[in-house]
Amino acid sequence: MPGDTSWMDERFRELSAQNLQWDPPTLESASTPRCRMDGEAMIMLSANNYLNLTTHPRVVAAMIEATKEFGAGSGSVRAIAGTMEMHLDAEQTVARFKGVEAALIYSAGYTANVGLIPTLVKGKEDVIISDELNHGSIIDGVRLTKASRAVYPHNDMAGLEQSLKEHSDSDRKLIITDGVFSMDGDIAPLDEITSLAQEHGAMVFVDDCHGEGVLGETGAGIVDHFKLQGQVDFEIGSFSKALGVQGGIVAGSESMRTHAINHSRSWLLSGSQPPGVAAAQKAAVEVLMDEPEHHRRLWENTEHFRSQMNSLGFDLGQSTTPIIPVMCGESATAKQLSAGLRENGVMAGAIVFPMVSRDKARVRNQLSSGLSIDDLDEVLRIYEKVGKEIGLI
Ligand SMILES: Cc1ncc(COP(=O)(O)O)c(C=O)c1O
Repeated sequence: MPGDTSWMDERFRELSAQNLQWDPPTLESASTPRCRMDGEAMIMLSANNYLNLTTHPRVVAAMIEATKEFGAGSGSVRAIAGTMEMHLDAEQTVARFKGVEAALIYSAGYTANVGLIPTLVKGKEDVIISDELNHGSIIDGVRLTKASRAVYPHNDMAGLEQSLKEHSDSDRKLIITDGVFSMDGDIAPLDEITSLAQEHGAMVFVDDCHGEGVLGETGAGIVDHFKLQGQVDFEIGSFSKALGVQGGIVAGSESMRTHAINHSRSWLLSGSQPPGVAAAQKAAVEVLMDEPEHHRRLWENTEHFRSQMNSLGFDLGQSTTPIIPVMCGESATAKQLSAGLRENGVMAGAIVFPMVSRDKARVRNQLSSGLSIDDLDEVLRIYEKVGKEIGLI
């Protein structure tokens, strides 16, 4: 007799009553700037595909070729018998691109955070000091530790300094921040963070998942943006965003890589990436290095969209990156705006509580180099129409 799981349906009814349930739409084409979703043609503003590499011919060909030659799966965890040349090549390419000694590939950005953070601290005698808006995977990684914890107000350097002073007696101190904050599109002041860290003897850990391929002169990420090479201990990245594939990255020193290989449970205890994925990861980084036009077009599109949306009178919050939220206040307004856009062929999701606080609901736009100016002008016309219909502008 199976156990009683009726509480699951009960829980779902409670969520639905608060309009907080997920009902994921189905993408019926590749994730491209013009795509098909639930039977409708859409202009996509909800993908992390900043450089439109999901369908880049070199990336797709690398995946197909490696799969044909090396098979669909690696057959093991990396540590035992699942490390293939493709994994090592991809890691060396990432390290070269990011200007660090070494990189290690994880099954996802999520598992990189939850796998690395617990290896960096011991117990109560150490402290993790974290920005209040850090991504959930960082929060989960911190929860897996027994270290003392402190949270500072978002990007508030006086708050961070205060915390560092309060924990001056801690043994290891680890500051963790997102690079680009995924809900607001603002950037952590990593230059100030690293100088406070140096003053107080702390390690610096930055989650650059939305900065990779986006920030810096060539898309190398937040460390290049602030010219902080050699001053950041741990950089987390993701292949599932600007790089258009899937998988996680940890970048830093050779010692860090050796340490992670020996202690990081999400790396040690999980099967390695299929060879096709590893080959596509490497190809995506090479495309980024060889074809700077994707990075340039992303920023041209971002500036065009931001300036036109500002002229229309939308409140874009604190964004300075290709993540551009439209601040709506109430959840109902964000949902209304997102639904109106979708009816008119634009996919831009509502971000509501519990992802953001109840009074800071928004519709989040993520720009891509693959959008044309005509695509964007169509989006802007639709935003103006729906924004006026619902009284937001
Ligand atoms: C800031 C941040 N870190 C980590 C992740 C997880 O990355 P992945 O999709 O590779 O697991 C995400 C993805 O949502 C993210 O936005």
